[in-house]
Amino acid sequence: MSKIDISDINDILKTIIHPERETDIVSLGLIEDIIIEEKRIKFKIVTPSPDPLISGIKKRCIEAIKSKIDNPEINVSVMELVRERKPHKKLILEQEHHALEKVKNIIAVASGKGGVGKSTVAVNLAVALSKLGYKVGLTDADVYGPSIPKMTATEDAKPLVDDSSGKEMILPIEKFGIKWMSIGYFAKPDQPLIWRGPMASNALKQMILQIEWGELDFLIVDLPPGTGDIHISLVHDIPLSGAVIVTTPQEIALLDVQKGINMFRSEKISKPVLGLVENMSWFTPKELPNNRYYIFGKNGGKKMAEHFSIPLLAQIPIVLEIGESGDSGAPYALTDVSEAFLTLARNIIDTDSVFVE
Ligand SMILES: Nc1ncnc2c1ncn2[C@@H]1O[C@H](COP(=O)(O)OP(=O)(O)OP(=O)(O)O)[C@@H](O)[C@H]1O
Ligand SMILES: [Mg+2]
Repeated sequence: MSKIDISDINDILKTIIHPERETDIVSLGLIEDIIIEEKRIKFKIVTPSPDPLISGIKKRCIEAIKSKIDNPEINVSVMELVRERKPHKKLILEQEHHALEKVKNIIAVASGKGGVGKSTVAVNLAVALSKLGYKVGLTDADVYGPSIPKMTATEDAKPLVDDSSGKEMILPIEKFGIKWMSIGYFAKPDQPLIWRGPMASNALKQMILQIEWGELDFLIVDLPPGTGDIHISLVHDIPLSGAVIVTTPQEIALLDVQKGINMFRSEKISKPVLGLVENMSWFTPKELPNNRYYIFGKNGGKKMAEHFSIPLLAQIPIVLEIGESGDSGAPYALTDVSEAFLTLARNIIDTDSVFVE
Protein backbone atom coordinates (compact mmCIF):
# COMPACT_ATOMS: atom_id res chain seq x y z
CA MET A 1 0.00 0.00 0.00
CA SER A 2 1.56 3.34 -0.98
CA LYS A 3 -0.34 6.29 0.48
CA ILE A 4 -2.54 5.35 3.41
CA ASP A 5 -5.46 7.35 4.67
CA ILE A 6 -8.07 7.16 7.40
CA SER A 7 -10.50 5.12 5.36
CA ASP A 8 -7.81 2.46 4.70
CA ILE A 9 -7.24 2.12 8.44
CA ASN A 10 -10.96 2.05 9.02
CA ASP A 11 -11.32 -0.75 6.47
CA ILE A 12 -8.58 -2.77 8.13
CA LEU A 13 -10.14 -2.31 11.58
CA LYS A 14 -13.51 -3.38 10.21
CA THR A 15 -12.07 -6.85 9.72
CA ILE A 16 -11.66 -7.22 13.49
CA ILE A 17 -14.65 -8.80 15.15
CA HIS A 18 -15.36 -8.36 18.87
CA PRO A 19 -15.33 -12.01 20.09
CA GLU A 20 -18.29 -11.62 22.42
CA ARG A 21 -20.43 -9.14 20.58
CA GLU A 22 -19.79 -10.78 17.19
CA THR A 23 -19.73 -7.48 15.32
CA ASP A 24 -16.73 -5.59 13.96
CA ILE A 25 -15.20 -3.01 16.26
CA VAL A 26 -15.80 -0.10 13.85
CA SER A 27 -19.52 -0.80 13.55
CA LEU A 28 -19.69 -1.11 17.33
CA GLY A 29 -18.42 2.47 17.53
CA LEU A 30 -15.34 1.51 19.52
CA ILE A 31 -12.86 3.29 17.26
CA GLU A 32 -12.30 7.02 17.59
CA ASP A 33 -9.89 9.64 16.34
CA ILE A 34 -7.82 7.84 13.72
CA ILE A 35 -4.83 10.05 13.02
CA ILE A 36 -2.15 9.41 10.45
CA GLU A 37 1.09 11.25 10.91
CA GLU A 38 4.25 10.72 8.94
CA LYS A 39 5.29 7.35 10.32
CA ARG A 40 2.69 6.94 12.98
CA ILE A 41 -0.86 5.67 12.96
CA LYS A 42 -2.83 6.47 16.10
CA PHE A 43 -6.35 5.82 17.24
CA LYS A 44 -8.39 5.20 20.35
CA ILE A 45 -10.43 2.21 21.39
CA VAL A 46 -13.22 3.58 23.55
CA THR A 47 -15.56 1.33 25.51
CA PRO A 48 -18.50 2.50 27.61
CA SER A 49 -17.52 0.14 30.44
CA PRO A 50 -14.36 -1.86 31.28
CA ASP A 51 -13.93 -4.70 28.80
CA PRO A 52 -11.38 -7.45 29.54
CA LEU A 53 -11.26 -8.39 25.85
CA ILE A 54 -9.94 -4.99 24.77
CA SER A 55 -6.24 -5.69 25.26
CA GLY A 56 -6.52 -8.72 22.97
CA ILE A 57 -8.45 -6.66 20.43
CA LYS A 58 -5.82 -3.96 20.60
CA LYS A 59 -3.09 -6.49 19.77
CA ARG A 60 -5.11 -7.78 16.83
CA CYS A 61 -5.61 -4.21 15.55
CA ILE A 62 -1.87 -3.55 15.56
CA GLU A 63 -1.10 -6.88 13.89
CA ALA A 64 -3.77 -6.36 11.23
CA ILE A 65 -2.52 -2.88 10.34
CA LYS A 66 1.12 -3.98 10.25
CA SER A 67 0.33 -6.94 8.04
CA LYS A 68 -1.59 -4.80 5.54
CA ILE A 69 0.81 -1.87 5.50
CA ASP A 70 4.09 -3.29 4.47
CA ASN A 71 6.38 -0.72 6.03
CA PRO A 72 8.55 -1.65 9.01
CA GLU A 73 8.99 2.03 9.93
CA ILE A 74 5.30 2.49 10.66
CA ASN A 75 4.51 2.73 14.32
CA VAL A 76 0.97 1.98 15.46
CA SER A 77 -0.16 3.35 18.81
CA VAL A 78 -3.51 2.60 20.34
CA MET A 79 -4.99 4.26 23.39
CA GLU A 80 -7.56 2.36 25.45
CA LEU A 81 -10.22 4.46 27.10
CA VAL A 82 -13.25 3.65 29.20
CA ARG A 83 -15.63 6.54 28.86
CA GLU A 84 -19.37 7.09 29.08
CA ARG A 85 -20.75 8.64 25.91
CA LYS A 86 -22.02 12.22 26.02
CA PRO A 87 -19.88 13.62 28.83
CA HIS A 88 -20.58 17.11 27.55
CA LYS A 89 -22.80 18.66 30.18
CA LYS A 90 -20.61 17.52 33.03
CA LEU A 91 -17.59 18.90 31.25
CA ILE A 92 -19.14 22.34 31.04
CA LEU A 93 -19.90 22.40 34.74
CA GLU A 94 -16.44 21.19 35.61
CA GLN A 95 -14.87 23.95 33.61
CA GLU A 96 -17.13 26.53 35.23
CA HIS A 97 -17.98 28.23 32.01
CA HIS A 98 -20.59 30.40 33.57
CA ALA A 99 -21.89 31.77 30.26
CA LEU A 100 -22.32 28.26 28.92
CA GLU A 101 -23.82 26.72 32.00
CA LYS A 102 -27.29 26.47 30.48
CA VAL A 103 -26.12 25.72 26.93
CA LYS A 104 -26.79 22.07 26.13
CA ASN A 105 -24.91 21.65 22.86
CA ILE A 106 -22.20 23.68 21.20
CA ILE A 107 -21.65 22.93 17.54
CA ALA A 108 -18.81 24.39 15.48
CA VAL A 109 -19.29 24.92 11.77
CA ALA A 110 -15.89 24.68 10.12
CA SER A 111 -14.16 24.23 6.79
CA GLY A 112 -10.59 23.81 5.71
CA LYS A 113 -10.99 26.60 3.18
CA GLY A 114 -12.87 29.88 2.87
CA GLY A 115 -15.87 30.76 0.77
CA VAL A 116 -17.51 27.34 0.78
CA GLY A 117 -20.65 28.60 2.53
CA LYS A 118 -19.82 28.11 6.20
CA SER A 119 -21.63 31.22 7.40
CA THR A 120 -24.59 30.49 5.13
CA VAL A 121 -24.84 26.97 6.54
CA ALA A 122 -24.35 28.20 10.13
CA VAL A 123 -27.08 30.86 9.93
CA ASN A 124 -29.56 28.64 8.15
CA LEU A 125 -28.85 25.73 10.48
CA ALA A 126 -29.59 28.05 13.42
CA VAL A 127 -32.88 29.07 11.82
CA ALA A 128 -33.81 25.47 10.97
CA LEU A 129 -33.15 24.30 14.56
CA SER A 130 -35.21 27.19 15.86
CA LYS A 131 -38.03 26.25 13.46
CA LEU A 132 -37.95 22.75 14.96
CA GLY A 133 -38.65 24.33 18.33
CA TYR A 134 -35.19 24.53 19.91
CA LYS A 135 -33.64 27.53 21.64
CA VAL A 136 -30.73 28.62 19.49
CA GLY A 137 -27.84 31.06 19.58
CA LEU A 138 -25.12 31.68 17.04
CA THR A 139 -21.76 33.30 17.48
CA ASP A 140 -19.74 34.63 14.60
CA ALA A 141 -16.25 33.51 15.49
CA ASP A 142 -14.86 34.97 12.29
CA VAL A 143 -12.98 37.83 13.90
CA TYR A 144 -11.34 38.80 10.59
CA GLY A 145 -14.42 38.95 8.40
CA PRO A 146 -17.60 38.87 10.47
CA SER A 147 -20.58 38.30 8.22
CA ILE A 148 -23.45 37.61 10.62
CA PRO A 149 -24.58 41.23 11.13
CA LYS A 150 -25.13 41.61 7.38
CA MET A 151 -26.66 38.17 6.92
CA THR A 152 -29.23 38.89 9.63
CA ALA A 153 -29.64 42.63 8.89
CA THR A 154 -28.52 43.53 12.41
CA GLU A 155 -25.60 45.78 11.40
CA ASP A 156 -26.90 48.67 13.46
CA ALA A 157 -27.45 46.63 16.61
CA LYS A 158 -25.40 47.61 19.66
CA PRO A 159 -25.15 44.86 22.27
CA LEU A 160 -25.74 45.96 25.87
CA VAL A 161 -23.49 45.06 28.75
CA ASP A 162 -24.84 43.58 31.98
CA ASP A 163 -22.57 43.87 35.01
CA SER A 164 -25.16 43.03 37.63
CA SER A 165 -23.39 39.78 38.48
CA GLY A 166 -20.14 41.62 39.17
CA LYS A 167 -18.69 40.41 35.87
CA GLU A 168 -19.25 42.27 32.62
CA MET A 169 -21.38 40.12 30.35
CA ILE A 170 -22.51 41.10 26.86
CA LEU A 171 -26.15 40.56 25.93
CA PRO A 172 -26.67 38.93 22.53
CA ILE A 173 -28.84 40.52 19.84
CA GLU A 174 -32.19 38.78 19.44
CA LYS A 175 -33.87 38.47 16.04
CA PHE A 176 -35.99 35.76 14.39
CA GLY A 177 -36.20 34.18 17.85
CA ILE A 178 -32.44 33.49 17.81
CA LYS A 179 -29.61 35.03 19.84
CA TRP A 180 -26.79 36.39 17.67
CA MET A 181 -23.33 37.60 18.56
CA SER A 182 -20.56 38.91 16.33
CA ILE A 183 -17.43 40.96 16.73
CA GLY A 184 -18.91 42.95 13.85
CA TYR A 185 -21.24 44.63 16.36
CA PHE A 186 -18.22 46.24 17.96
CA ALA A 187 -16.39 47.40 14.84
CA LYS A 188 -17.31 49.68 11.99
CA PRO A 189 -18.13 47.67 8.86
CA ASP A 190 -15.69 49.63 6.68
CA GLN A 191 -12.77 49.04 9.05
CA PRO A 192 -10.88 45.84 8.43
CA LEU A 193 -10.24 44.02 11.67
CA ILE A 194 -6.56 43.49 12.27
CA TRP A 195 -5.56 41.23 15.12
CA ARG A 196 -2.42 39.53 16.14
CA GLY A 197 -2.66 35.83 16.94
CA PRO A 198 -3.28 35.82 20.72
CA MET A 199 -5.51 38.88 20.50
CA ALA A 200 -7.63 37.24 17.85
CA SER A 201 -8.00 34.08 19.81
CA ASN A 202 -8.95 36.00 22.97
CA ALA A 203 -11.50 38.11 21.11
CA LEU A 204 -12.92 34.95 19.72
CA LYS A 205 -13.24 33.24 23.07
CA GLN A 206 -14.89 36.36 24.45
CA MET A 207 -17.50 36.09 21.73
CA ILE A 208 -18.47 32.79 23.34
CA LEU A 209 -17.55 32.98 27.01
CA GLN A 210 -18.46 36.57 27.83
CA ILE A 211 -21.95 36.46 26.34
CA GLU A 212 -25.06 36.08 28.46
CA TRP A 213 -26.49 33.21 26.42
CA GLY A 214 -28.97 32.05 29.01
CA GLU A 215 -30.75 28.81 28.28
CA LEU A 216 -29.96 27.35 24.85
CA ASP A 217 -30.42 23.94 23.26
CA PHE A 218 -27.85 24.80 20.61
CA LEU A 219 -25.07 27.31 20.31
CA ILE A 220 -23.71 27.36 16.77
CA VAL A 221 -20.16 28.65 16.31
CA ASP A 222 -19.36 29.97 12.84
CA LEU A 223 -15.58 29.47 12.72
CA PRO A 224 -13.27 31.48 10.50
CA PRO A 225 -11.97 29.60 7.45
CA GLY A 226 -8.86 27.49 7.87
CA THR A 227 -7.30 25.30 10.50
CA GLY A 228 -4.63 27.52 12.08
CA ASP A 229 -3.52 28.18 15.64
CA ILE A 230 -6.50 30.39 16.44
CA HIS A 231 -8.87 27.58 15.57
CA ILE A 232 -6.97 25.04 17.55
CA SER A 233 -6.87 27.27 20.60
CA LEU A 234 -10.62 27.95 20.41
CA VAL A 235 -11.66 24.42 19.67
CA HIS A 236 -9.49 23.23 22.53
CA ASP A 237 -10.89 25.63 25.13
CA ILE A 238 -14.60 25.50 24.34
CA PRO A 239 -16.65 22.46 25.41
CA LEU A 240 -17.82 21.61 21.91
CA SER A 241 -20.30 18.79 21.39
CA GLY A 242 -18.94 18.37 17.92
CA ALA A 243 -18.14 19.90 14.58
CA VAL A 244 -19.81 20.07 11.21
CA ILE A 245 -17.46 20.38 8.25
CA VAL A 246 -18.71 22.24 5.20
CA THR A 247 -17.34 21.54 1.74
CA THR A 248 -18.20 22.04 -1.90
CA PRO A 249 -18.28 18.90 -4.07
CA GLN A 250 -15.06 19.53 -6.03
CA GLU A 251 -12.42 16.84 -5.81
CA ILE A 252 -9.75 19.39 -4.93
CA ALA A 253 -11.61 20.07 -1.67
CA LEU A 254 -10.65 16.62 -0.33
CA LEU A 255 -7.44 17.85 1.26
CA ASP A 256 -9.23 20.78 2.94
CA VAL A 257 -11.79 18.42 4.40
CA GLN A 258 -8.99 16.18 5.65
CA LYS A 259 -7.38 19.20 7.36
CA GLY A 260 -10.71 20.13 8.92
CA ILE A 261 -11.26 16.63 10.25
CA ASN A 262 -7.70 16.34 11.53
CA MET A 263 -8.07 19.57 13.48
CA PHE A 264 -10.90 18.13 15.58
CA ARG A 265 -9.49 14.64 15.81
CA SER A 266 -5.96 15.53 16.86
CA GLU A 267 -5.01 14.05 20.20
CA LYS A 268 -4.90 17.45 21.88
CA ILE A 269 -8.39 18.44 20.77
CA SER A 270 -10.30 15.22 20.35
CA LYS A 271 -13.82 16.52 19.62
CA PRO A 272 -16.27 14.50 17.56
CA VAL A 273 -16.84 15.33 13.91
CA LEU A 274 -20.61 15.06 13.50
CA GLY A 275 -20.38 14.89 9.73
CA LEU A 276 -19.99 16.65 6.44
CA VAL A 277 -22.28 19.14 4.71
CA GLU A 278 -21.98 19.26 0.93
CA ASN A 279 -22.87 22.80 -0.11
CA MET A 280 -23.60 23.95 -3.67
CA SER A 281 -24.39 20.35 -4.64
CA TRP A 282 -26.41 21.12 -7.77
CA PHE A 283 -28.36 23.86 -9.44
CA THR A 284 -32.01 23.61 -10.47
CA PRO A 285 -33.30 26.45 -12.63
CA LYS A 286 -36.78 27.65 -11.70
CA GLU A 287 -38.14 26.99 -15.19
CA LEU A 288 -36.81 23.37 -15.18
CA PRO A 289 -37.68 22.23 -11.64
CA ASN A 290 -36.91 18.57 -12.35
CA ASN A 291 -33.41 19.17 -13.68
CA ARG A 292 -30.28 19.11 -11.58
CA TYR A 293 -27.05 20.54 -12.92
CA TYR A 294 -23.99 19.36 -11.01
CA ILE A 295 -21.85 22.39 -11.59
CA PHE A 296 -19.07 21.42 -9.17
CA GLY A 297 -19.29 17.67 -9.79
CA LYS A 298 -21.79 15.08 -8.65
CA ASN A 299 -21.81 13.75 -5.08
CA GLY A 300 -18.25 14.90 -4.33
CA GLY A 301 -19.16 15.51 -0.67
CA LYS A 302 -20.93 12.19 -0.43
CA LYS A 303 -17.82 10.42 -1.69
CA MET A 304 -15.65 12.38 0.76
CA ALA A 305 -17.93 11.42 3.65
CA GLU A 306 -17.57 7.75 2.65
CA HIS A 307 -13.83 8.18 2.26
CA PHE A 308 -13.45 9.54 5.80
CA SER A 309 -16.17 7.31 7.28
CA ILE A 310 -18.21 10.23 8.58
CA PRO A 311 -21.91 10.86 7.98
CA LEU A 312 -23.06 13.07 5.12
CA LEU A 313 -25.46 15.33 7.01
CA ALA A 314 -26.96 17.19 4.06
CA GLN A 315 -26.57 18.20 0.45
CA ILE A 316 -27.50 21.85 -0.02
CA PRO A 317 -28.31 22.89 -3.58
CA ILE A 318 -27.27 26.19 -5.13
CA VAL A 319 -30.29 28.37 -4.68
CA LEU A 320 -30.08 31.92 -5.92
CA GLU A 321 -32.29 33.03 -3.05
CA ILE A 322 -29.71 31.69 -0.58
CA GLY A 323 -27.15 34.16 -1.89
CA GLU A 324 -29.69 36.95 -2.12
CA SER A 325 -31.01 36.30 1.36
CA GLY A 326 -27.45 36.46 2.68
CA ASP A 327 -27.24 39.95 1.25
CA SER A 328 -30.71 41.08 2.28
CA GLY A 329 -30.43 39.80 5.84
CA ALA A 330 -33.36 37.39 5.92
CA PRO A 331 -31.97 33.85 6.21
CA TYR A 332 -33.16 31.52 3.48
CA ALA A 333 -34.25 28.89 5.97
CA LEU A 334 -36.97 31.30 7.10
CA THR A 335 -38.80 30.58 3.84
CA ASP A 336 -40.85 27.41 3.52
CA VAL A 337 -38.64 25.89 0.83
CA SER A 338 -35.66 25.14 2.99
CA GLU A 339 -35.95 21.36 3.29
CA ALA A 340 -32.20 20.83 2.94
CA PHE A 341 -31.47 22.84 6.09
CA LEU A 342 -34.23 21.11 8.04
CA THR A 343 -32.69 17.77 7.01
CA LEU A 344 -29.33 19.02 8.24
CA ALA A 345 -30.86 20.08 11.57
CA ARG A 346 -32.64 16.75 12.04
CA ASN A 347 -29.54 14.73 11.18
CA ILE A 348 -27.49 16.70 13.70
CA ILE A 349 -30.09 16.10 16.39
CA ASP A 350 -29.93 12.38 15.61
CA THR A 351 -26.16 12.10 16.16
CA ASP A 352 -24.84 10.49 19.32
CA SER A 353 -22.89 13.55 20.43
CA VAL A 354 -25.89 15.84 20.69
CA PHE A 355 -28.53 15.61 23.32
CA VAL A 356 -31.89 17.28 23.52
CA GLU A 357 -34.87 16.46 25.68
N1 LIG B 1 -26.14 26.98 -1.43
C1 LIG B 1 -25.88 28.22 -1.87
N2 LIG B 1 -26.59 28.75 -2.91
C2 LIG B 1 -26.31 29.99 -3.35
N3 LIG B 1 -25.38 30.81 -2.84
C3 LIG B 1 -24.65 30.34 -1.79
C4 LIG B 1 -24.87 29.04 -1.25
N4 LIG B 1 -24.00 28.86 -0.21
C5 LIG B 1 -23.29 30.01 -0.13
N5 LIG B 1 -23.66 30.89 -1.06
C6 LIG B 1 -23.07 32.23 -1.31
O1 LIG B 1 -21.66 32.05 -1.44
C7 LIG B 1 -20.94 33.12 -0.82
C8 LIG B 1 -19.99 32.55 0.26
O2 LIG B 1 -20.79 32.00 1.31
P1 LIG B 1 -20.41 32.21 2.84
O3 LIG B 1 -20.10 33.63 3.14
O4 LIG B 1 -21.47 31.54 3.60
O5 LIG B 1 -19.08 31.35 2.88
P2 LIG B 1 -18.01 31.20 4.06
O6 LIG B 1 -17.45 29.84 3.93
O7 LIG B 1 -18.60 31.59 5.34
O8 LIG B 1 -16.96 32.27 3.62
P3 LIG B 1 -15.74 32.85 4.50
O9 LIG B 1 -14.69 31.83 4.36
O10 LIG B 1 -15.40 34.13 3.81
O11 LIG B 1 -16.22 33.02 5.90
C9 LIG B 1 -22.01 34.06 -0.26
O12 LIG B 1 -22.24 35.08 -1.19
C10 LIG B 1 -23.24 33.16 -0.13
O13 LIG B 1 -24.44 33.90 -0.23
MG1 LIG C 1 -18.03 33.04 6.78
